[in-house]
Amino acid sequence: MLTRIDHVGIVVHDLDASLKTYCDDLGFRLLQRVSIPEQMVEAAFLDAGNGTIELIAPTDESSGTARFLQNRGEGTHHICFEVDDIAAALETLRGQGLRLIDETPRQGVHGLVAFVHPKATHGTMIELLQKHE
Ligand code: CO
Repeated sequence: MLTRIDHVGIVVHDLDASLKTYCDDLGFRLLQRVSIPEQMVEAAFLDAGNGTIELIAPTDESSGTARFLQNRGEGTHHICFEVDDIAAALETLRGQGLRLIDETPRQGVHGLVAFVHPKATHGTMIELLQKHE
């Protein structure tokens, strides 16, 4: 059902500073930088060969990402897996009693997305992604 890892999401304080580290020092290539106003974040996607890295920085102190930073500091925030049919995947997970953050898929940067609660998955939030055609 979860067919492959699409990206690993990492929350950071400062997107420019993190891009300097990941691109200049670690050698990753920037694919895309986007603002996601409804989530109050800015994100950058880096080419990691068999997947991407998503660096995420809050643009507002009231965002969930800002709360994550306050509580846990910078670091891995979620792992995103690609699915063929996100509605069917959510239905299956719900049937298994897994706690979901999103009961229905919503529009993400690269397709339809939904998050599974980290308490349901031993501490790591999982993002499901059904890519745009
Ligand atoms: Co993501």
